[in-house]
Amino acid sequence: MSTSMDAEFDVMPRWVAEAVAELGPGHAGPAACRGSVGPAGLRWLADRTRVGLGGLLVDVGGGMGGPAAWAREQRGAAPLVVEPQPGACWAARRMFGLPTVVGSGDAVPVGDGRAASVWCLGVLCTTTDKLGLLCELRRIATPGGRLGLFVLVDRGLCDQPPAGNSFPSEFELAAALATARLEVVDSVDVADLPAAPPDWERRTAETDEAVRARHGREPAWRRMQEQQARLARLLDTGQVAGRLLAVHRPGEVSRRGA
Ligand SMILES: C[S@@+](CC[C@H](N)C(=O)[O-])C[C@H]1O[C@@H](n2cnc3c(N)ncnc32)[C@H](O)[C@@H]1O
Repeated sequence: MSTSMDAEFDVMPRWVAEAVAELGPGHAGPAACRGSVGPAGLRWLADRTRVGLGGLLVDVGGGMGGPAAWAREQRGAAPLVVEPQPGACWAARRMFGLPTVVGSGDAVPVGDGRAASVWCLGVLCTTTDKLGLLCELRRIATPGGRLGLFVLVDRGLCDQPPAGNSFPSEFELAAALATARLEVVDSVDVADLPAAPPDWERRTAETDEAVRARHGREPAWRRMQEQQARLARLLDTGQVAGRLLAVHRPGEVSRRGA
């Protein structure tokens, strides 16, 4: 993983958890979902991926645990965060007391068919092996289970993506899902969902400011700002769009690549 991605996904979560310890637990949810899906998107996903109806929710690339903690609090889900960055796992445990496992999407440390629901939010764009990741998600999902994906898709001529990111086109995404034998049951552009409430945005901004005040002179903070600025520009210009997908894992048992 690149140094920029380490700054964003390993160092930053530790800083966010420190800031939340100062600001209070009400800041944890908004701070830990940043760069990903807000409350409207999480509701959209939970409604379509059978979250909270029993069984395990595995959040692959679950970051600081914001979405998993939301699913537990709002829907009574039993989540497990699988995340390659130790700093993010530490932050998820510290802020939410979530069960976490350090692990990557190319070999998810969860048995075949164990997850009634699988979320993978903002992760497909950070790996070049998109098909391998989708096959792993399929492998751990219960036959007949549901997957929730948040994917940044390239809407054309995406220049200067943030380091370590490769955004699939809609066509590439559809082809990879079909090859992994996963069926899209619903999808929506995040931009078409209601914005996060002002209080959510305020808490996110207060956490950002606390992190900046403490770490704004450090190279990792500047690298992270650069990553976020590049992504914001691509979203603002419409070169990249955030898309939520609810995906059905068809019924028969399979092995990866079979
Ligand atoms: C944009 S963040 C999203 C975090 C979280 N899913 C959320 O929505 O708040 C992307 C996450 O994917 C993780 N990641 C990157 N490559 C991965 C891979 N190959 N397998 C699993 N997770 C990965 C990163 O460490 C990071 O925590």
